[in-house]
Amino acid sequence: MDRFIIKGPVRLKGEVEISGSKNASLPILMATLLTDEPCVLTRVPDLRDVRTTFKLLTELGKNVSYDGNMAVVTNAGPLKGSVSYDLVKQMRASFWVAGPLLARLKHAQIPLPGGCAIGVRPVDIHLKGFEKLGAVCTTLKGDILIKAGELKPAKIVLRFPSVGATINIMMCAVLIPGQTIIENAAKEPEVDDLIAALKSMGADITVDAQGRVIIEGKAALGPMKHAVVADRIETGTFVIAAAATRGDVIIKNCVPSHNEILVENLVESGFEVVTGDGRIHIKYKEGVQLKPVGIRTMPYPGFATDLQAPYMSLLCTLPGASDITEDIFENRYMHAPELVRMGADITIEKTMAKIKGGAPLSGAKVMASDLRGGVALVIAALCAGGESSIDRVYHIDRGYENIEQKFAGLGAVIKRFNPEKQ
Ligand code: EPZ
Repeated sequence: MDRFIIKGPVRLKGEVEISGSKNASLPILMATLLTDEPCVLTRVPDLRDVRTTFKLLTELGKNVSYDGNMAVVTNAGPLKGSVSYDLVKQMRASFWVAGPLLARLKHAQIPLPGGCAIGVRPVDIHLKGFEKLGAVCTTLKGDILIKAGELKPAKIVLRFPSVGATINIMMCAVLIPGQTIIENAAKEPEVDDLIAALKSMGADITVDAQGRVIIEGKAALGPMKHAVVADRIETGTFVIAAAATRGDVIIKNCVPSHNEILVENLVESGFEVVTGDGRIHIKYKEGVQLKPVGIRTMPYPGFATDLQAPYMSLLCTLPGASDITEDIFENRYMHAPELVRMGADITIEKTMAKIKGGAPLSGAKVMASDLRGGVALVIAALCAGGESSIDRVYHIDRGYENIEQKFAGLGAVIKRFNPEKQ
């Protein structure tokens, strides 16, 4: 298993280019199941979850070629209606093929994704949506069977603006002639990017002033041509890392408006942040008294749960008391005990983390237990004095393209190391 060996502390300095979004690439790749025509996607990041999605598409009857961040998806054979547990257990988002398969085949059999490290994560909102569209959902030996005689358009009100449910229902409704409306839909930029990709295939989707997604379903969709949006979580991660290390970094090829709350918080904390066309420049000005600003995670445009862990590492470095409330996932503080091993003062009470920041962090042996918690440890290690060893880097590889090269380009001393290969 790969580890990162990081020597700190360092002040990150320089420029970094942001990759295409993981969480937009996955559903857009799955949307290629909605057509028999060729689909060309650019700015697809080379990540473990993206590679898993390629396997998923191949298993379902597609051919994928991938070169230089461009993925070309074509038909290899007839579309299949089920996926293996092996893939679903590697990546919960595999469940998102349900919508396209249901739309095209009127049935889908997908292993129930189950819980994961960050929480229980049920799929009831997805299933209620499919049922509204005319499907019947049952479970059999750990699989969810979704079947429909005929699918019909519907008005669907989500009990919570789930990203995955919005995506899954939308990908089914685009192929059901008539008008489907999704109320209380997720507003995340990744949902907007999926809408743009679907529109390139000829789908008719609008989002009205109340945020309702209105879909005029079509009998068939054409080829897809789309460039994936910049990854706002990778962007936020580098912004936070620059602040935590008191650096001076220009983050390029990003969409600054997707990280507005984060930027506002950092300005309030005392950092200098200038946003411009596709870039964010963040800088610590010597001598400025910094203060911590607490957060509560919320659906977009609120503070992203995916940035909660990296932000906690930053709060550990800012003198003073602050707190975090995690309202999206019930078990997303697994990085906290690891940060404590590095000298942080954090106590967890149910959904709230209380942080007393400012004490120096010191390098330690720690372990990543999930993707964003893992990158939080990388940030802490960059701030800490001495050497840190971060185990289970495979979690981080799920969602950050060339992460060690990008940090090294900003002056970090970071090495990938595999003890079994020595
Ligand atoms: C997406 O997960 C992202 N994953 C997550 O990013 C992200 O944290 C999350 O959205 C919130 O922004 C991908 O895009 C691949 P949800 P998703 O459905 O779709 C509950 C990362 O690190 N819920 O909005 O699974 C659920 O349990 C990942 O890149 C139900 O109760 O998120 C959770 O508490 C991690 N029933 C909350 O809603 C349902 O049917 C939000 O889930 C669906 C969800």
